Amino acid sequence: MARSNVSVQSGGIDGATTYLADNPTPNLLIVQTTETGDGMFAALERLSGVVDPDSRVILLGQENDIGLYRKLIEMGLSDYFTGQVGAEQLLGAIESIFAQADATESGRVIACIGTRGGAGSSSVAANLAHSLGQQFEEQVILIDLDMSFGTAAMALNLQQRQSLADALAQPSRLDDVLMERFMLKYDDHLSVVAAPVTLGANEDINLESFEILLNLVRQMAAFVVLDMPHLWHNWVSEVLLHADEVVVVTYPDLANLRDAKNIFDTVASKRGVGAPTRLAFNRVGNSRKTELTAKDFESTIGESPVVTIPFDPVLFGTAINNGEMVAQVNKGSKTVQEFDKLANIVSARSPVAAAAKKSMLSLFKGTN
Ligand SMILES: Nc1ncnc2c1ncn2[C@@H]1O[C@H](COP(=O)(O)OP(=O)(O)OP(=O)(O)O)[C@@H](O)[C@H]1O
Ligand SMILES: [Mg+2]
Repeated sequence: MARSNVSVQSGGIDGATTYLADNPTPNLLIVQTTETGDGMFAALERLSGVVDPDSRVILLGQENDIGLYRKLIEMGLSDYFTGQVGAEQLLGAIESIFAQADATESGRVIACIGTRGGAGSSSVAANLAHSLGQQFEEQVILIDLDMSFGTAAMALNLQQRQSLADALAQPSRLDDVLMERFMLKYDDHLSVVAAPVTLGANEDINLESFEILLNLVRQMAAFVVLDMPHLWHNWVSEVLLHADEVVVVTYPDLANLRDAKNIFDTVASKRGVGAPTRLAFNRVGNSRKTELTAKDFESTIGESPVVTIPFDPVLFGTAINNGEMVAQVNKGSKTVQEFDKLANIVSARSPVAAAAKKSMLSLFKGTN
């Protein structure tokens, strides 16, 4: 514990909730409560709204009940103790929590899929990847999984020699040095693994090879953004089931609503509690008079969009023609704000930390 900073506050779960609403979450939160039953669960629910998803929580409670223990662990708590807890016991729990965390510390995988062709999922994937790199100053790898019609490299004006198909062809040889050869650098933060430029590659991606590749790139970058094709192959649903985040990009009309419902019914319910599936509206305003609303989606699939990206053909068209991201064409636009918002949401990092980092940087750079 020599490198740990420990701070103690009073007030139980609600005290922690109030405190953490205005303060960044520590890596480990140990909360003691005298509440039980529904009252305790309601308090934990409130707490989960302010705790960073990356931090670990140990609960010291009253009830000694294995069913309750299981339920709490399922909710995402790291451990639960009752009665008199000795220092040794607590230290043992902390040690094992962080041993696991170190072993699995790897990039967050965010998959973007459109409900219908052309909904804009590739545009969202690329701009989201760019925003993640800019806001968090981290390495981001964008992988174009649209083997036949991928556009990621073209949209960023990157000259490619090799593609994802080449990388997947030799899974046993893949390591970080070889992987670098398949990655195209866009800027200091963003790299792209491009799809093949010609037709003929196998669209049916081998899951075992892809898993090897994914595990590798997750060690190389803090965020891995997957641009999913508009296909419903077995590998597509498998990748969606296992990604840390899924962003379903849709246009608010009837056909998209039907397909969004299918995707949420098939995928979202099978993903774990800590693995969100988000809805993103795109091209909103394209056909104002006939568009459905967020309410229509909410009432049909129980999901509202976390972002609403306006229809802006000039901005998107200019970006494509320049081989740039929209933030480079018009930094102040609503579209860019929405991409930044989405990046914050899927990052699972506290915006407090990002904002603080930004303002410190601005001191050094003399910019905002
Ligand atoms: N909000 C928007 N406003 C205007 N044009 C947009 C918007 N979003 C995307 N586009 C444009 O729509 C076209 C299709 O976008 P994109 O390729 O991202 O869709 P997709 O869902 O990935 O399509 P596919 O089904 O082929 O994979 C592109 O020309 C893109 O520039
Ligand atoms: Mg696409």
